[in-house]
Amino acid sequence: MNLTIGAVILAAGEGKRLKLDAPKPLAPCLDKKLVDFPIREIQKFFNQNKLTGIKTAVIGHQRELVQTYISKRYPDVKYAVQERQLGTADALRAYFDSDPSTHKLDYTLVICADTPVVSEAELTKMLELLQSEKMDAVAATFQDPTPKGYGRIIRGKKGFHIVEEKDATDDQRKITEVNSGLYLLKTSYVLENLKSVDSNNKSGEFYLTDIFKDGLNVDALCFPHGNVFLGVNNLEQLEQVETILRAQKIVQLREDGVRFIDSNHAYIDDEVEIGAGTLIYPNVFISGKSKIGKNVIIEMGAQIKDSVVADNARILAYTILEEAKIHEKAHIGPFARMRPGADIGPEAKIGNFVEIKKSVLDRGAKVSHLSYVGDAFIGEETNIGCGFITCNYDGANKHITRIGKNSFIGSDSQTIAPVTIGDDCFVASATTVTKNMPDGSFAISRGHQTTKEGMAKKFIKVKEKM
Ligand code: UD1
Ligand code: CA
Repeated sequence: MNLTIGAVILAAGEGKRLKLDAPKPLAPCLDKKLVDFPIREIQKFFNQNKLTGIKTAVIGHQRELVQTYISKRYPDVKYAVQERQLGTADALRAYFDSDPSTHKLDYTLVICADTPVVSEAELTKMLELLQSEKMDAVAATFQDPTPKGYGRIIRGKKGFHIVEEKDATDDQRKITEVNSGLYLLKTSYVLENLKSVDSNNKSGEFYLTDIFKDGLNVDALCFPHGNVFLGVNNLEQLEQVETILRAQKIVQLREDGVRFIDSNHAYIDDEVEIGAGTLIYPNVFISGKSKIGKNVIIEMGAQIKDSVVADNARILAYTILEEAKIHEKAHIGPFARMRPGADIGPEAKIGNFVEIKKSVLDRGAKVSHLSYVGDAFIGEETNIGCGFITCNYDGANKHITRIGKNSFIGSDSQTIAPVTIGDDCFVASATTVTKNMPDGSFAISRGHQTTKEGMAKKFIKVKEKM
């Protein structure tokens, strides 16, 4: 039995109350946009239930921006344009008008772009009910003791209908079972019932909710946890959904063996992977496609984005990693900044106030204090002293510094790139390395010291008396 589904993402709305420059579907949510969530869950729903079909976003407000964003990430999503937002039924008409092949799909799934907590699990439950009870249409509902703004569910002996809050009587407003806005419908049923939907209501809108009727073969599936349907209409709700999504991620990580000192203050985005035995301190942010290994320690205030941290590494307090790769047992920080292309070898040590960019450090290399390393290769077990700088930029171009293995670079030294220092070299403190150094060589470029007895007083300034 190969079911076909037309998945419709309602994304034409404006989202004025969010007060963002972007249209609502592109409002930020964790490290993504709102619209990413339903698209991704639809994808999972299709895979989970071996469904095929068409995914369509109904777009309207700032539609070029929305379409550009979606098409870059999800090339299989199609679009239906709703010129004016005349209501949710009108949005669905725009969808069916956009592509006649959508009429032939078995079911039509309707999901809003602004409910990012809805997951594949809810969609699958609806599909199961629809199939087992041979229903024509299912609406997802939930109980809300203070149901402000939602359509109310009025159940009949058979079937049910929905009354929008604006059109409800005082008694109907007291009903606490509300409409989530998520529907799974037989396509033939919705096509038939859309025909009669009019705009004779307080809002003058075409309500999709009017396709549900008493006496028909339709059902309202009431979900126990209403917060999965929380819609984002203002910034408070945005914060609420982000908190829910993060909490779900923490639960899942904990099940996988990740330990938190205070999970209420750990901010871990959705696609991040973390291995068992890893310990996360408070105020840690991990985002993007970061991958953290097993038994890693991540101390407070660390920010990790699109980076890989291997097993048994340690990220000390207030360290920032961006597109960096940290190998096994390396220690980074505290207060270190690993910029894109930093590749820190196994057992290497990076200390405080060290910035590393586009550089590969081999096993056991050490840069322990106050240094900048950019566009460099540093060999195994080489030790870089305090205050070292790769002068990699000549004002127009970047150049490379190469330092071999087992070398010692004294404090307060610089390399004027391009330059190469061999293996087993020794660079004296305060040296500016401008020429290549062969293996085993020593370099010093420090000025000679002259000491004049008693001469200091000539230079010591005395405060003038007023
Ligand atoms: C809708 C439901 C209400 C339900 C609530 C849940 C109707 C008539 N009412 O109300 O029963 O409790 O959702 O949140 O459907 N949209 C379009 N084009 C339009 C109108 C809306 O694409 O012309 C999109 C919006 O961008 C949004 C979604 O449809 O993503 C829901 O529209 P909205 O106006 O927010 O409906 P509600 O009044 O919240
Ligand atoms: Ca809404």
